[in-house]
Amino acid sequence: CGIVGYIGTREAAPLLLGGLHRLEYRGYDSAGIALLNGGLPFMKQKGSVAELQKAFDASPARMLGATIGIGHTRWATHGDPSDRNAHPHLNAQEDIAVIHNGIIENYSVLKQELQGEGYHFQSDTDSEVLVQLIDRIWKIDPSLSLEAVVRAALRHVEGAYGVCVISPRDPDKIVVARKGSPLVIGIGEGEYFIASDAAPIVEHTNRVVYLSDGEMAVITRSGYQVRTIENVAMEKDITELDFSLEKIEKGGYEHFMLKEIFEQPDVMHDVMRGRVRTEEGRVVLGGIEDYLDRLKQARRIVICACGTSWHAGLIGEYLIEDFARIPVEVDYASEFRYRNPIIGPDDVVIVISQSGETADTLAALRAAKEKGAMVMGICNVVGSTIARETMCGIYTHAGPEVGVASTKAFTAQVIVLYMLALALSKGRTISHDEMRLSLKELSKVPEHAAKILELDSQIQQIADDYKDARNFLYLGRGYNFPVALEGALKLKEISYIHAEGYPAAEMKHGPIALIDEDMPVVVIATRDSSYQKILSNIEEVRSRKGRVIAIASEGDTEVARLAEHVIYIPQASAQIMPLLTVIPLQLLSYHIATLRGCNVDRPRNLAKSVTVE
Ligand code: G6P
Repeated sequence: CGIVGYIGTREAAPLLLGGLHRLEYRGYDSAGIALLNGGLPFMKQKGSVAELQKAFDASPARMLGATIGIGHTRWATHGDPSDRNAHPHLNAQEDIAVIHNGIIENYSVLKQELQGEGYHFQSDTDSEVLVQLIDRIWKIDPSLSLEAVVRAALRHVEGAYGVCVISPRDPDKIVVARKGSPLVIGIGEGEYFIASDAAPIVEHTNRVVYLSDGEMAVITRSGYQVRTIENVAMEKDITELDFSLEKIEKGGYEHFMLKEIFEQPDVMHDVMRGRVRTEEGRVVLGGIEDYLDRLKQARRIVICACGTSWHAGLIGEYLIEDFARIPVEVDYASEFRYRNPIIGPDDVVIVISQSGETADTLAALRAAKEKGAMVMGICNVVGSTIARETMCGIYTHAGPEVGVASTKAFTAQVIVLYMLALALSKGRTISHDEMRLSLKELSKVPEHAAKILELDSQIQQIADDYKDARNFLYLGRGYNFPVALEGALKLKEISYIHAEGYPAAEMKHGPIALIDEDMPVVVIATRDSSYQKILSNIEEVRSRKGRVIAIASEGDTEVARLAEHVIYIPQASAQIMPLLTVIPLQLLSYHIATLRGCNVDRPRNLAKSVTVE
């Protein structure tokens, strides 16, 4: 979910709505705003921010004249997406408004208690207990300040939250608090912005303060004050942001996803800039330099992540084991933390996260830290929670990724893992010449990627042939197996076609039963040591009338004989291949989804950054 807030001298409602637009990738089931203008007018409803904007445009009068307000865009956890479950939540008198991100774990106990005292709940959300708790505390002692009642209410709450509260009973301030769900304060001239990440703030100011877990802030027009939830005053550093608004606009493309796919050659350069020193035969990774020896001595590396980042992790496993010969395990962050993992000070845990805010990944990182492991991060969002809580890390520098389906962040993660694997190999498992060769291969990737993007219209045509399929199978071996998983995930996410990724050789142990003329099979069949084997797999599909779309190396004629469609990509080493083979799969799912009329940037039920467990 996404939070925005504003306090200053300008009209608040349009600013809040604009901020919510920028946050929509965090969830878009419902949206709402609440303002202070003597009273506490609010609007909230099911649907997108654009729909809320329409409702506002239709009757702006009662929402005008306010220079303080808060807003929210929601990704449903407790309770259906609906008008009444939308935030803000208000008490019965409608003089306290609360916005909440995260999950209140003990909400049912609290709700029962409050209902026992006669409180009526208007929604099915866990968040509503917060406003009712505040109401109860204020009834007992009406002389308390807003921050005092919020603080007292939070003492009863278990779970995670980012909250914003306003009330005409104590006007001219916004009270915010954070535990497990990010909050940033933007510092303007005589005005302040609040948001769950910097995206809605950058157009107004680049000076921000990140709240840490367990902190609260009271924000007025003349300043802000940060204290811990236990009421101890804190000094906070101001961070200067360096990303521009232009970077988060669509730049002429129809969708953010397409723009982000096409940005990949540039992003690849950015990831490597200053880090890949081909002539010197070394990789410079400033963020882990001081920890490199400990990393090299790791008994084992465990990679934890979710979704697409988890797929990058699988490629990381192949790369690190291949180059650096250190045993690697890859785990879903959500599984890792709950299975009492065997982990200790000799282990290194690497967490990978585009957003740096994914709740499961963050929890895995904290669990690993508690067990004494060294924790390293690979994040895209600078200053994100995971980036700040890891001991060291490597930023992917892919720039803001807005499309919900991750594309450029994935390729950036894989490049970082490739560089990391080489850094861990240096002086141990590969020679200077091998190192130079491997770096040379890597530095050619942006050029190869640009060439693959030229195949866009061919891929669009293939998409047109298959857009009505109901199932898809994706097959790959070795380094291309995780790419098969990622290709299938991309298609599922944005086109709602069921798709499965499989190691090609495993197909005969199950999925082969599904193959008939209605089952398109995408096979990644580039030339590497298992090339002959994968040709046999294609034969197996063909003899059951499956329709094959192959990704093959340039100049390959054998595959063309077997497959219905062939997408040719430049030849490269097996270790480099995932960076190339994934691109046609991104384009294929993009085109299938747009041809089906799907909202590719904001697929249903998904969120860009999942800050609940
Ligand atoms: C969500 C997104 C996915 C993403 C995953 C992990 O499910 O929809 O695209 O891969 O979270 O996100 P992270 O920010 O941790 O990489």
